[in-house]
Amino acid sequence: MKNNKESTKIGKKFPYSEQTLVKGQSLEFIVLAAGLGTRMKSPLPKVLHEIAGVPMIGLLCGKIFSFLEAHTKDSQAVNDFRLNVVIGHGREQVRSFVQECFDVFRRKHTGKNFPLTLSFTVQEEQLGTGHAVKLALASTNTKANPSDMVIVLNGDLPLLSDGILDELVNAHAEFKSTATLGSMVLERPGAYGRILRKGKKFVGVCEYKDASPAQRRISEVNGGVYVFNRSFIQIEILQIKNQNKAKEFYLPALFDAAVRQKKNIHAHIVSDPEALHGVNDQLERSQAQQKLFKRINESWMKQGVSFMSPETTYIDPRTTLKAGVVIYPGVILQGACEIGSGVKLEANVFLKKVKVGDQSVLKQGTVAEDAEIDAGCKVGPMAHLRPGTKLEANVKVGNFVEIKEASIGEGSSIAHLSYVGDAFIGKRVNIGCGFVTCNYDGTVRNGRRKHQSIIGDDVFIGSDCQVIAPLQLAAGTFIASGSTVTESTKEAGSFVIARSRQVTKPGYAKKYKPK
Ligand code: UD1
Ligand code: CA
Repeated sequence: MKNNKESTKIGKKFPYSEQTLVKGQSLEFIVLAAGLGTRMKSPLPKVLHEIAGVPMIGLLCGKIFSFLEAHTKDSQAVNDFRLNVVIGHGREQVRSFVQECFDVFRRKHTGKNFPLTLSFTVQEEQLGTGHAVKLALASTNTKANPSDMVIVLNGDLPLLSDGILDELVNAHAEFKSTATLGSMVLERPGAYGRILRKGKKFVGVCEYKDASPAQRRISEVNGGVYVFNRSFIQIEILQIKNQNKAKEFYLPALFDAAVRQKKNIHAHIVSDPEALHGVNDQLERSQAQQKLFKRINESWMKQGVSFMSPETTYIDPRTTLKAGVVIYPGVILQGACEIGSGVKLEANVFLKKVKVGDQSVLKQGTVAEDAEIDAGCKVGPMAHLRPGTKLEANVKVGNFVEIKEASIGEGSSIAHLSYVGDAFIGKRVNIGCGFVTCNYDGTVRNGRRKHQSIIGDDVFIGSDCQVIAPLQLAAGTFIASGSTVTESTKEAGSFVIARSRQVTKPGYAKKYKPK
């Protein structure tokens, strides 16, 4: 066993030890998410506040899931994993969001016998973190084996990493601890619970509200993540009292109980204190978000993505990028975007759930949502691709073009000032400046509000044309500029002109010129 000094050194990385989780063991994660988060000053339950576009409890669950995935890789693992979420304020919202995260995780492991169950515990009145855990354990009521563990996490830890969970589980095993927590040393320890030590020995936690001025000067604080032996917590949680300033049942009171019983307890100073950044108010939320964006950008840099201005680039944790992507200032990528290799995203590009194929260029100010752009496309500047847009390879979409529910075939070009909605456009189609698919006539028929335009391969549409949908143009149709096309063409290669004839009256202009 390593000595205490070495293992509590900041920055020390625990090696991932496969012995820490043993076969036959059960592991329950209790996530505390019942509080309203009064300090957020918002009707939304605290854990649903978003960090980088994801409710913070979603980020936390994601890390629990990746920890479990890592520990079940070679099926050396634990037999029974449980995720038990304590809900109270906004319980239905929190429940359905967590259920959705869980279902996505399950679908990822379809076919595998992944040993994870999800349950919820309702805490009607928020009487404290200890009370929340008591209810959670009562609701599962499992008979404990000596090796069974319970990991408790505050729900407001959006920056937690699965590495920190590894560190804690390893430290817990290494020190033969009964109760372990993750701590951190902060320059400004704020209102976190203070870690009390006698010499080097950890002896308990004192909540900020109850702390003396001297205790408040302690810079090592409780990070809100705990590992307990199940046999201990199941019994001792029933004994916790609320004799403190807040009249709350504190979870960290369990450490006092362990000390009284002469059990080993351990406060492990985590290698990455940022990972335990708790969010209690809007300032802490925005600080956490800033940190997360920075981390995301740095991790993509390591994977070969170039940023011109990382401090003004915001990438959703669900987005993926390939090596060689170049990102200009002010780019925002929301949701699960997939950006292919060598893609260039120029200044102020905004994408939400968009796939972009290799080598495509999205010029300045392009906005796209729920869209798919294949390889080699050129889009923008100032193009707007609305939901349901699909650009096949090598399509060009120029400035001030809006596209919605439309697929544009390979090699086609819509270069300037056009609206294309509810349309199928074939390959190698050239659309001139100022084209409009007139898809709406003000009425709803058979549940459809909009009519479709189907434009065949190699069609040429001159500038300033409209098609009045529903309408179909055969392959190779040529539409003269200035035409309002109301009838379909059936034969390939037809020529269409639908504009009034010009009248020229020599010398007549002076009649209209002011004297
Ligand atoms: C808690 C710790 C503190 C630690 C800090 C780390 C206690 C008593 N204090 O303080 O030592 O430094 O976290 O971030 O645990 N919750 C419930 N039911 C309740 C009360 C809370 O589910 O009855 C949930 C909250 O929704 C929240 C989490 O537990 O997600 C933590 O509660 P919070 O009030 O934020 O505790 P802190 O004051 O931050
Ligand atoms: Ca908190």
